[in-house]
Amino acid sequence: MKILSILYDGGDAARAEPALLGTTENKLGLESWLQELGHEFVVSSSKEGPDSVFQKHIVDADVLITTPFHPGYLTADLIKKAKNLKLAVTAGVGSDHIDLNAANEHKITVAEVSGSNVVSVAEHVVMTILTLVRNYDTGHQQAITGNWQVSNIARKAFDLENKVVGTIGAGRIGYRVLQRLKAFDCKELLYYDYNPLSKDLEDAVGCKRITDLKEFLGKCDVVTVNCPLHEQTRGLLNSETIGYMKKGAWLVNTARGAICDREAVREAVSSGVLSGYGGDTWDHQPAPQDHSWRYMVHPLGGGNCMVPHYSGTTLDAQARYAKGVRQILENFFENKPQDPANVIVEGGKYATKAYGQR
Ligand code: NAI
Repeated sequence: MKILSILYDGGDAARAEPALLGTTENKLGLESWLQELGHEFVVSSSKEGPDSVFQKHIVDADVLITTPFHPGYLTADLIKKAKNLKLAVTAGVGSDHIDLNAANEHKITVAEVSGSNVVSVAEHVVMTILTLVRNYDTGHQQAITGNWQVSNIARKAFDLENKVVGTIGAGRIGYRVLQRLKAFDCKELLYYDYNPLSKDLEDAVGCKRITDLKEFLGKCDVVTVNCPLHEQTRGLLNSETIGYMKKGAWLVNTARGAICDREAVREAVSSGVLSGYGGDTWDHQPAPQDHSWRYMVHPLGGGNCMVPHYSGTTLDAQARYAKGVRQILENFFENKPQDPANVIVEGGKYATKAYGQR
């Protein structure tokens, strides 16, 4: 079989650190195993445009493996051309880089390594919330540029205690964020999700579900986005819905960049309507040099906690998703069923309830 994998280039770091498994150098640790089994394994980071390795090889690949960190965008057009494609594996979590409706039309199975990096992301979310709310970046900039003006930091620094924090999506990551925030004695922990948590899970963290988005956004001091990107969440946070948020609230999005409208976020941060925005996911990856989220600043400084997409690709997470990809391939080669928790679409249908209400 022909297996095509689109990963990011790790360069010197990946040559020096073999545990950087999700790179073109270290190939998810799969190369010798796949070669021993007699498969052709094509690995590259080249993914944009008709001359890219991705677009050239997808036409006769049987399996695609790609990561959300450097996604090969498998559009409906490419799916039409991918005559042999039977399985698309996401090395990580979040399969929105694949046109899932088109995958269904062509009966392609899409599977991801569910749970592989959910703690990694939840920890990053808590870090980002604290970094924004406490105005850490403004303080750090002073420290490294030789300045010292505490009032310019403190005028926009708050405690997380007694704030209302809400998550859009209370699945594996959203719930883990709430669990971790319990220790901060927030005023309320809220969630907005069409799949309710059980009463036991709600009680364990003391959170409450709000079913109306406008009401939910209006109550939160901090909103964290932890749902997949699909038709119903693309642009969910836009100028209208950001307008429902409290003035001076913070917005954290480690889910997918395109859930938040690029220009609406820039405008809200630059005008001070939001106190800050942070996350690691961008509406196109790698983010272009001139992406406004790289440069936006709150009128009082700071308010920007963006980083490249890495929260779910810690070395711990890479070990877990590389192992999970191998298991998915083994099941596929041996005609065994996949772990249902990993299957996003299969046999022409959505196997998960997380990609929208259908
Ligand atoms: P999950 O499937 O366990 O939970 C997702 C939750 O979102 C579900 O409870 C679902 O009902 C809810 N949801 C879906 N649409 C919604 C909507 N319109 N409104 C409110 N809630 C909605 O998924 P998990 O593991 O928690 O991951 C969530 C997302 O986080 C992934 O799909 C991915 O996009 C992103 N992610 C980001 C990573 C990073 O490195 N930044 C790494 C891993 C995941």
